[in-house]
Amino acid sequence: MAAAPGLFVTFEGGEGAGKSTQIRRLAAALRQRGFRVLETREPGGSKGAEAVRHVLLSGAAEPFGVRMEAILFAAARSDHVERVIRPALAEGVVVLCDRFLDSSRVYQGITGNLEPAFVETLERVAINGVAPDCTIVFDLPAIVGLERARRRADHQGEDTPDRFEREELETHEKRREAFLDIAMREPERCRVIDATKPEEQVAVEIQAIVEPLLPVAGQIPTPAPETAP
Ligand code: TYD
Repeated sequence: MAAAPGLFVTFEGGEGAGKSTQIRRLAAALRQRGFRVLETREPGGSKGAEAVRHVLLSGAAEPFGVRMEAILFAAARSDHVERVIRPALAEGVVVLCDRFLDSSRVYQGITGNLEPAFVETLERVAINGVAPDCTIVFDLPAIVGLERARRRADHQGEDTPDRFEREELETHEKRREAFLDIAMREPERCRVIDATKPEEQVAVEIQAIVEPLLPVAGQIPTPAPETAP
């Protein structure tokens, strides 16, 4: 959305890639510098979308097929875009979103085997013109990501992986390739990060990507320097 005064950055990649940790770090760094930042996630991010999130991640919609799931992801995205993301961007906020349209392209489109035209139509309706200015793709071997996701779940006392984490390693590897493929096709929007690097280093790389894109109007104005007499 070139016209909006804010900045819309999405974070994509497989499970356990460290997206949420990096979003938290970036948000804190930007806030410290006076930017207004919104941290959000999909599926979810608005009241309506959070209600749909549970249906999707519990696997309750799985028996009804991948089309049903794709439409529910799109319904959640539409609500999130219209009620939260678009208004925030219009106010000059930096929006950091954990997963967005590329997750639907990859999980429902590529590994869900949905026809591209169906996925594209849902995407168009759901985002309604609100495309990310920048997408950071976290790349790491699926086995490493799944192991991290499992450790995180243990740590948080969750004993069962979600509907998508449960799938075969081969499926997760296919998703990795699909994210890389999107990044290759859309180099102006997407930047790939090696998510096996230490957290600190990944954070530095992300800062460097986002820095030139930051909205001037998003910062709390500092008093103009006094002009010499
Ligand atoms: P969550 O625990 O929020 O994700 P993460 O793996 O990023 O920590 O779970 C979101 C799951 O939903 C994840 O497995 C990817 C999946 N998903 C889709 O299949 N399609 C989509 O459009 C989105 C946004 C997510």
